[in-house]
Amino acid sequence: MSRHYDVAAIRRQFPVTERMLYLDSAHQTPLATSVRDALVRFYQEGNETAGPKAVWLDRVERVRARVANLLGAQPSEIAFTKNTSEGMNIAANALPLAAGDNVLLVEGDHPNNAYAFLNLRRKGVEVRFVPLAGETARAEMFTPHIDARTRAISLSHVTFHAGHRFDIASIGALCTQKGLYFVIDAMQSTGVVPLDARASGASLIGSGCHKGLLVPQGLGILYCRQDLDELQPAYMAMSSLAKPPGDYIARADNMTLKPGAGRFEIGNFNLPDIHALDASLALIESVGVPAIEAHLYDLGDRLIERIDDLGIRLVGPRARAERSPHIYVLDLPAQEWLAYLTSREVRVSPERDGIRVSFGLFNLAEDVDRFVRILAERGSLPARANAAA
Ligand SMILES: Cc1ncc(COP(=O)(O)O)c(C=O)c1O
Repeated sequence: MSRHYDVAAIRRQFPVTERMLYLDSAHQTPLATSVRDALVRFYQEGNETAGPKAVWLDRVERVRARVANLLGAQPSEIAFTKNTSEGMNIAANALPLAAGDNVLLVEGDHPNNAYAFLNLRRKGVEVRFVPLAGETARAEMFTPHIDARTRAISLSHVTFHAGHRFDIASIGALCTQKGLYFVIDAMQSTGVVPLDARASGASLIGSGCHKGLLVPQGLGILYCRQDLDELQPAYMAMSSLAKPPGDYIARADNMTLKPGAGRFEIGNFNLPDIHALDASLALIESVGVPAIEAHLYDLGDRLIERIDDLGIRLVGPRARAERSPHIYVLDLPAQEWLAYLTSREVRVSPERDGIRVSFGLFNLAEDVDRFVRILAERGSLPARANAAA
């Protein structure tokens, strides 16, 4: 049972839950039946009627509006990409950065965010890794590292490796105050933590869709704030242009870019996944992200209480304000526990500092209890866990 929505009804959409204890949604989502059905319908249309493509493209715009609604943005502020890395690379290469400028990142944050910016070192852009102070990243942490040549801050909303929830509101306000661009990797938060693009102060937000947005790998979304006309795409195609040539003959005098995020789209879309996203967003909207977040926080509270009883240390933050609702890393030797948990039909991920448990909207309190029972049934807890007791 949940205080927030009918989880049992949602769970019926995820038949994988009957086969295993799936606690790995921060790695990839299992496929919901309604999302699989949307994919099958798309393939059937292709198979039986070869499109028509115009209908598919109309649906792309409908899904774009749905994504915009999820992020509190305008449809023209949303582009479809391939994944988070593409979003971060689009952002890094679009910012007007010159040799000698610097960008601030968080030490140990996701490498797909970091490499997009580290690649700019070849143009003389400096990347500064700011160490985490305490259990979250807040504006104060960055202030001492900002100088006259600082142009941007880029970070995850939620970290994959320990479930930190960074204080994007204070960092966004700092960026606005100092005139810095603000780039957010929202891969671990979309669909799980409410994210209002405007309120966050973000310039650009990138996310893949294969975790909290519940579709198979290969589709990403990118938010780009409408007024940032100075951002230039590194790649260009007809689809990037405000007025693509009707005769399909390229001319150098017709290269005005689309306003907003559309300038970053190149070529054909991942149409199957966009159809899948239509269905997954319908599922997410039927519950609402705030209710998903609240339910997952409840599961997290329960997990923390139970592992405290077992003497297993939680690696990341404990306070709700500083942690994500769904990612919890247990201080257990990863490889040995992974083998045991796999043998008990439990799916989790090995992480830098232990075993990562991550919840999806279909997980129940009973899943937490079952997981903790399985942990306890192993008998001897390893030295690291005993040391924390
Ligand atoms: C914070 C974060 N960023 C990015 C990624 C992955 O990047 P991509 O979508 O490019 O595969 C992940 C995990 O897969 C992640 O946790």
